[in-house]
Amino acid sequence: MKSIIAAVAVAGLMVAGNAMASDAKMPASAAKCQACHKIDGKQVGPGWKQVSEKYKGKADAEKTLTENITKGGKFGWNMGQMPAKGGGASDADIAANVKFIIGLAK
Ligand code: HEC
Repeated sequence: MKSIIAAVAVAGLMVAGNAMASDAKMPASAAKCQACHKIDGKQVGPGWKQVSEKYKGKADAEKTLTENITKGGKFGWNMGQMPAKGGGASDADIAANVKFIIGLAK
């Protein structure tokens, strides 16, 4: 009996854990980005967590990411070409997304 309760509790925790992972939402400023990016894992472009890990600890991360997103192009992921400004995001949205992306790597 005890083991059944424990199993149910563990299953419950796993469900809660998954819900939390997918609950991590992109900011409203990322509306134009979601077609191609997820927080974690590849979509059309790289997962933002993976981008964050690539730039972790780099002093110029914020500047480089802002430039790359604004200009678009290829950044070494071999996934194709990103459209400039992700297809028309404002500079304010880009700045908000850069902060969000940098904050993902812990
Ligand atoms: C049409 C698809 C598409 C959209 C929309 C898009 N991206 Fe991308 N993005 C890509 C692709 C493809 C790459 C990878 C390019 C490569 O292979 O190097 C990429 C790469 C990136 C990178 C990695 C940059 C680096 O220096 O490594 C960041 C950050 C990024 N995108 C942010 C954004 C943001 C923010 C938006 C919304 C404003 C956005 N993207 C919208 C396709 C897209």
